[in-house]
Amino acid sequence: MESQPNKLAFDSGWAYSPAPESTDHVHIDKKYDLFIGGEFVAPVKGGYFETINPATEEVLSSVAEATDADVDRAVKAARKAYRGAWSKMNAAERGKYIFRIARILQERAREFSVIESLDGGKPIRESRDIDIPLAAAHFFYYAGWADKLGYAFPGRTPKALGVAGQIIPWNFPLLMAAWKIAPALACGNTVVLKPAETTPLTAMKLAEVIRDAGLPPGVVNIVTGAGKTGAAIVNHPDVDKIAFTGSTDVGRLIQRAIAGTKKKYTLELGGKAANIIFADAAIDQAVEGIVNGIFFNQGHVCCAGSRLFVQESVADEVIQKLKDRMETLIVGDPLDKNTDVGAINSAPQLEKIESYLKIGQQEGAEMYQSSCPVPKRGYWCRPTIFTGVSQSNRVVQEEIFGPVLAIQTFRTLEEGLTKANNTPYGLSGGVWTDKGAKIFKMTQQVRAGVIWANTFNKFDPTSPFGGYKESGVGREGGLHGLGAYVRLEPQS
Ligand code: NAI
Ligand code: MG
Repeated sequence: MESQPNKLAFDSGWAYSPAPESTDHVHIDKKYDLFIGGEFVAPVKGGYFETINPATEEVLSSVAEATDADVDRAVKAARKAYRGAWSKMNAAERGKYIFRIARILQERAREFSVIESLDGGKPIRESRDIDIPLAAAHFFYYAGWADKLGYAFPGRTPKALGVAGQIIPWNFPLLMAAWKIAPALACGNTVVLKPAETTPLTAMKLAEVIRDAGLPPGVVNIVTGAGKTGAAIVNHPDVDKIAFTGSTDVGRLIQRAIAGTKKKYTLELGGKAANIIFADAAIDQAVEGIVNGIFFNQGHVCCAGSRLFVQESVADEVIQKLKDRMETLIVGDPLDKNTDVGAINSAPQLEKIESYLKIGQQEGAEMYQSSCPVPKRGYWCRPTIFTGVSQSNRVVQEEIFGPVLAIQTFRTLEEGLTKANNTPYGLSGGVWTDKGAKIFKMTQQVRAGVIWANTFNKFDPTSPFGGYKESGVGREGGLHGLGAYVRLEPQS
C-alpha cells in the first residue's frame, strides 16, 4: 500500500518517500487453534472466524471460536496447573519463567510489532516504540516482584487467588495481555485470557512464546472468540478473578454477572479525558501533546485526551496551531514508518466514529478535518476537531474512541476544573502550564486516575493505572497491580 503524502508536503514541493517496514520475517499461520493446557487444540465445535487487516480489508488468518465447552476445558487446565506445578513452585522459580517470556518478547520484538500493526491497524511507529517494548517491560517488572511479594505487603501474607479470567480489548492487544498476565503469574495465579476478536494474532504468538519459555502446561491458556466467549469466562463457576478492559457497557454486564459470587474483579473501562491548556503553557509543546493525546493511535485509547480545554486568551493561537499541525499528519499505511495515524480498527468502529461526526454537526458544533488524503480501501478517519461545543453535547460527554477532539475554552482555573470534571468518566487527564502550583492544584482536583503534567499518554510498568467513576474499578500496574491478584492474610 502507498503511504499518503500530506498536503503541506505537497504544497512545499516535497514529500516523504515511502518507508514501509518489511513483512518478510513475519510468519502468520493460516489458522490458529486454542492454546489450552500447553498445546494448540481445535475447538470442540470446530468453529473458526477470520481476522483481517483493517488497512487493506485482507484476511490475515482464521482463529478458533471458543464455546462454553472450550472455556471449560481451559479453566480446568488452569485449575490443574494451579493446584499442581504453579502454586507449589518456589516463587523465585516462577519469576524465572516470567523473565524468560520478557526476554523472548524482546528478541522477537520486530515480528510482534509488524503483526500488531497488520492485525489492528496501528502505525508501526507505535507498535515498535510503545506497545511491544512496554509489554516486555511489564513482564520484566512483574518477574522481579515474584519472589518479593512479602515486601509488597508488609505485615501480611499475600496468597494467590487461583484462576484468573482475563478479557482484553483491541486497542493495545499485546500490551493489555502483558498488563494482565504478568502480575497474575507473579502472584502465583494461573490464567485464561481472551483477546479481542479483531486482534487475536499477537496473543496467539504470545502463546507460542509461553510454550517456548517452558511454562508448565495450563499456567496460561489463551482462548479466542467474541463476546460470548468472554461471557463464558465471566460466568464460569471455577474462575476466582475477572480482569476486564473494554467498554463501560460490557463492564456493567460483567459487574452484574458476578455480583454475589466469590469472584474478585478489576474493570478498566471507558474515558473522556480532559487536556487542559493554560495560557502560560509552552504552546508548541502543548499542541504536540494534544496531537499525541487524541490523533496518534487513531484515538483508540481509553485515556485519550478527547476533550480539550484551552484558556481563552490563547484559544485562537492554540486552535490555529493545532489545525496547522493536523495538516501535516500522515494518515495511511500502518506499516510505513512515517505514518502518524493508522487505520480504524474495524468497520463497526468506523461506523461508530462517523455517526458521532454527524451527531456533532447536528448538535451545532463546527467540524474541522485535516485535508490529508486517505487510502481508498480499508477503514480510515481524518483527524477531526469540533469547536463551538457545549458541555451537554454528546461529542463532549460520550466516548467516541476515534481521532475526534472536542474543544472548549475557560477563563479561570476553577472554571477549567469544573468543566473538566463534568463527565461520567475519570480515567485520565492532562495539564499544561508553566506553574508548578497550578499543576499541584489540578492534579489533586481533577477526578481521574492518572494525570499527566506537560506531557500525555506516558506509561510505565511501575505506575498504577485505573479509573474513577464510570471508568472502572481497581488499579493495574505497579505495586497496586499486585494487590488485584492476591488475598491478604494475617502474617503467619
Ligand atoms: P467491548 O467492550 O465489547 O470489547 C472488549 C472485550 O470484551 C473484547 O474482548 C470482547 O470480545 C469482550 N466482550 C464483549 N462482550 C462481552 C461480554 N458480554 N462478556 C465478556 N466479554 C465480552 O468493546 P468493543 O465493542 O470492541 O468497542 C466498543 C466501544 O468500547 C469502543 O467504541 C470504545 O468506546 C470502548 N472501548 C474501550 C476500551 C478501553 O480500553 N477502555 C477498549 C475497547 C473499546
Ligand atoms: Mg484484525
